[in-house]
Amino acid sequence: MTDSASLTKPLLAALAGQTMTPPPVWLMRQAGRYLPEYRKVRAEAPDFLAFCLAPDLATEVTLQPIRRYGFDAAILFSDILVPPFALGHPVRFEAGEGPVLGRVTGMAEIEALDLGRARAVWAPVMETVRRVRAALPRQVALIGFAGAPFTVAAYMVEGGGSRDFAAARRMAYAEPALFGALMGRLEEATLHYLLEQAEAGAEALMLFDSWAGVLSPSQFRSWVIEPTARLVRALRARLPDVPVIGFPRGAGPMLAEYAACTGVNAVGVDTAVPVEWVVRTLPEDFAGQGNIDPMALVAGGEALRREVRGLLGHIRQRPWIVNLGHGIVPETPPDHVAELLAIIRSTD
Ligand code: CP3
Repeated sequence: MTDSASLTKPLLAALAGQTMTPPPVWLMRQAGRYLPEYRKVRAEAPDFLAFCLAPDLATEVTLQPIRRYGFDAAILFSDILVPPFALGHPVRFEAGEGPVLGRVTGMAEIEALDLGRARAVWAPVMETVRRVRAALPRQVALIGFAGAPFTVAAYMVEGGGSRDFAAARRMAYAEPALFGALMGRLEEATLHYLLEQAEAGAEALMLFDSWAGVLSPSQFRSWVIEPTARLVRALRARLPDVPVIGFPRGAGPMLAEYAACTGVNAVGVDTAVPVEWVVRTLPEDFAGQGNIDPMALVAGGEALRREVRGLLGHIRQRPWIVNLGHGIVPETPPDHVAELLAIIRSTD
């Protein structure tokens, strides 16, 4: 909705191209292990996917950082690996090991992905969206999200996390029809997953393409830009007023082509990208989001103040959403997050 009431939310105003002073702020992984109140709720649900699919618990942890800090946005508490799990693919989270998935090696695993089943399994996520939306203060926007098809496909081909996603990159070159079939299924599922979130009350949608940076430029066009452009077009046909934030982490200079060709309303900027380059390169009403180093937030003090002031100096004339360049890490002292918000909100 772009009625004037919704644009009184600073996050939605920035996404609509307005320069906001102070800029809106939220943090990737703002609900997480750095918060004692998160760890307490998490201890009640030993299985991480069951936790994501429990509306009571997911609603509570989504709201915790809003209550504690007063961020401008809440992000739905879930995970980018919920959709492959819902589609029937084996996914589990091992303590201290990260995600473990079944490996996609041929058409059998792809044909087994079942969108009808997925919609029933992820239904609790939509219930969480409805509950969070009803509970949020009026100026706080709710962000829904999904993993972009390439990043989710990369986990499914690899069977888990990886430093370089070599198996997925090899399949994309050597068996493009097979990799394309997997990507096609994921694109369709992602579209439905995001449409349902928006219908349940998400006011902005974010696509996490966390591993986009492992691709060559030509592969980046095929597996990041093209599927994202199709997804954004399909979303916009149904939801003309719901803004989309795309985050192709590690894209480097390909970020410019991503911003120009995908149709997203804003781009997430990772820590390695110079913000002054983004400001120079992207159209002036195009919003950026990022990119404080999560380690500066762990360090706090003068180092953090310097980083934040540097960022604020670059984005003064720009629609911008202050965030980290990647997710907050568990060792972050909660007081440093309060300090970050104080710096942003006291500077003009
Ligand atoms: O607060 C929020 O940002 C919303 C919730 C959210 C989570 N994961 C919760 C989570 C979001 C948006 C994600 C996205 C996500 N998940 C990404 C994309 C962003 C990125 O970090 O690049 C990726 C790649 C994943 C996959 C994933 N989930 C991994 C690799 C791990 C294990 C690593 C780890 O930190 O433990 C997770 C688990 C996960 N997802 C946790 C949280 C809070 C920690 C699990 C726990 O509580 O034990």
